[in-house]
Order: sequence, then structure tokens, then C-alpha cells
Amino acid sequence: MTFSYTPAGPASRRGPLKYGDRVQLTDAKGRMHTIVLLEGGYFHSHRGSFRHSELVGLPEGTVHTTSTGAQYLVLRPLLSDYVLSMPRGAAVIYPKDSGQIVQMADIFPGARVVEAGVGSGALSMSLLSAVGEYGQLISFERREDFAEIAQGNVDLWFGRRHPAWRVEVGDLAERLPQVVEPGSIDRIVLDMLAPWENLQVCADALAPGGVLLCYVATVTQLSRVVEDMRASELFTEPHAWESLVRDWHLEGLAVRPDHRMVAHTGFLVTARRLAPGHQPPLRSRRPAKGAYTGEEVWTSQDLGERPTSDKKVRKVKRDVTARVADLVDHSACEVPPPPGQDVPEGQDGPPGQDGQNVQDGQITAGLED
Ligand SMILES: C[S@@+](CC[C@H](N)C(=O)[O-])C[C@H]1O[C@@H](n2cnc3c(N)ncnc32)[C@H](O)[C@@H]1O
Repeated sequence: MTFSYTPAGPASRRGPLKYGDRVQLTDAKGRMHTIVLLEGGYFHSHRGSFRHSELVGLPEGTVHTTSTGAQYLVLRPLLSDYVLSMPRGAAVIYPKDSGQIVQMADIFPGARVVEAGVGSGALSMSLLSAVGEYGQLISFERREDFAEIAQGNVDLWFGRRHPAWRVEVGDLAERLPQVVEPGSIDRIVLDMLAPWENLQVCADALAPGGVLLCYVATVTQLSRVVEDMRASELFTEPHAWESLVRDWHLEGLAVRPDHRMVAHTGFLVTARRLAPGHQPPLRSRRPAKGAYTGEEVWTSQDLGERPTSDKKVRKVKRDVTARVADLVDHSACEVPPPPGQDVPEGQDGPPGQDGQNVQDGQITAGLED
């Protein structure tokens, strides 16, 4: 298959190494240095040095030996390496979540995509790679300094300004309607503190069936944005999830999960834009009345718990009282020894009913519904 165009920056990502390429040097202990190959450039470390020119023309995956005999593996960094090492203004979306976003928001080649905020530009690079040169990514950022950092990071990665990219400085709610035609956007990705403040403008910009994806860090934001999406009646029923990635340690027979992991990054939630004038089908379970009015009363039902009937509570109370009375009767002549004192030989410890655990005189398990 032949392509009639050159995607942004592929020349800097394949073929023999050349001046201007960014390369990652990894030593025998796994320590990394990232350098850009420059004419007349020199790499120095306490483990030796070499001229950049020595790498030019070599294939990636070369193991290069320094003046003092130290070895460095030479590779161009992957996007995931670059994202984790680039300068950050705002917190970045981690590669594991960018991958989910591209897949689950269905960012396709040629898509018209809106993103806000742009932060450090980490997600922008994945979105640009997915839309390609014939797509469009408009990234909104309300902080000018962050927009500049993001543009620096993204331009450095692609080696030039990606032809599908445009950055707009300003608040999304204000700028989006000024910048895009209503109903013209295929996908919107929001990574910001209060995505619920932008639901109406996003719905206006999205084409019917378009995807809105929000990335939020906390359950309180997740809950708020989902309830507001539902209340707006502009979107399909939201779908939320998180992804946990656990690395593995692989050494001889010691093959096991790593002891440490990034346990939490954020939650993802998607919904599709309904056709204007259409409302979502009535849900069989509606959110509690009064949810997010500002004066909400929290009940166990609001949190999805099944209510316990008064009858059930009375039954459990009777049961527990009977069990405690039983315990007291049985223990009248078998007082548990004070803490630290052994039970005399041949004598059982403090008694419990069958299936009950007794700890410090308290029943700790074995109670049934
Ligand atoms: C966590 S950062 C985004 C990081 C980015 N997704 C990345 O991967 O590098 C959130 C950004 O959203 C911006 N922001 C928050 N609310 C906004 C709004 N209403 N309009 C535009 N930008 C907004 C903030 O200034 C901040 O830079």
C-alpha cells in the first residue's frame, strides 16, 4: 500500500539515526538520558563520553560503547516515554488513560475533535496521532502559559506544528461557540476541574451521535458530571470506568506483580449526543430527587445501598441480644483470663457459639443476616 501524503514527523521516527533526532540512552542499570543529536555535539557522563556524530547513520537498537567502556542502548523514545519525561505545566494524562481515551471515544483518522484543557499537551499528541493529517484537533486552554508549554511539547514531539492542530486560548464555554459551527464536531474530550460547566456548549458543538468523554480525578467530580449529563437530557446514559495497570517483575523464577504501582490516575466517563429534540428513554431507576440541588440530603438510597427494613433491623437486634445473653450465661463460670495471662492448661479459652469468633469478649464474626 502506498500513501499519497507524509504523516507528521515519521521521518524523525524511522530509519538510521540522524542529526535532529531525539534519542534515549539507557545504561546497564536502566538509567536513561535523553539527548538530541547535534552536529558537533558531545555526550558526557561519569561513565564516559562520545561524539553525537558516532551515532549518526547507525540503526536504532545499537549498543554503543563509551570512551571508558560503558555501554548504552540507543533508541528513539516512544510517545509514552516522551510524555512521562517532558516538562509539565499541569498534570498530564498518563499513557494508559490516553490509550483508553483514543479507543473508547473512538478517535478516528479524519475526525474533528475538540479537547479542553490542553494542560501540558500530553493527550493532544495521542489525539493528533489518531486523527492524522486530514483530521482536526482544536485544543482549548484558559491559561496562556500552559498553552505555550503544551505547544512547545507537542511541536518538539512532531518536529514541527502538526497540520491538524490548532490551540485556542480562553475558557471553553466562551470560546467553543465562537470557534466551531454547531453540530460540526465528532468527538470532545474534557480534562478539567468542572466539566459539568461545559455540557451545554459541548452538546451544541457535537454532531448527533458524537462522543463526549470526560476524564476526572475524583469520585465527587464523576458523580457530579454524570448527574448533570442525565439532568441535561442531551446525552445517552453515561458509562464510567477506570483502568488499573499493574506491571510485572520478570526475573528467573521470581515472576510476580511489581510491589508498587500507580493505583489511581482518574475516572473516564463517556456519553453520546442525542439528536436535537430527542430525549433519552425513561430510565427505570431515576436519580434521587434533590440530588445536586446544592441542598442535597444524602440518603443510603442515593449511594445505591439497599434500604434495610425496620422489620429486618428488629430481627437482627433480637438475634444479637439473644446471642449476647447466651454468651453471658455460658461465660458465668468461665471468665476469660485478663489480657496477657495464659488460659490454664486443659481449659478452653472464652467460649463462643459455633461459628462465632470471640476476641476480647466481643463476638467478631459468625452473625448472619
Ligand atoms: C489537568 S490539565 C489537562 C492536562 C492535559 N490533558 C494533558 O494531558 O497534558 C487541566 C487543564 O484544563 C484547563 N482548564 C480548566 N478549565 C478550563 C476551561 N473551562 N476552559 C479551558 N481550559 C480549562 C486548566 O487550565 C488546565 O491547564
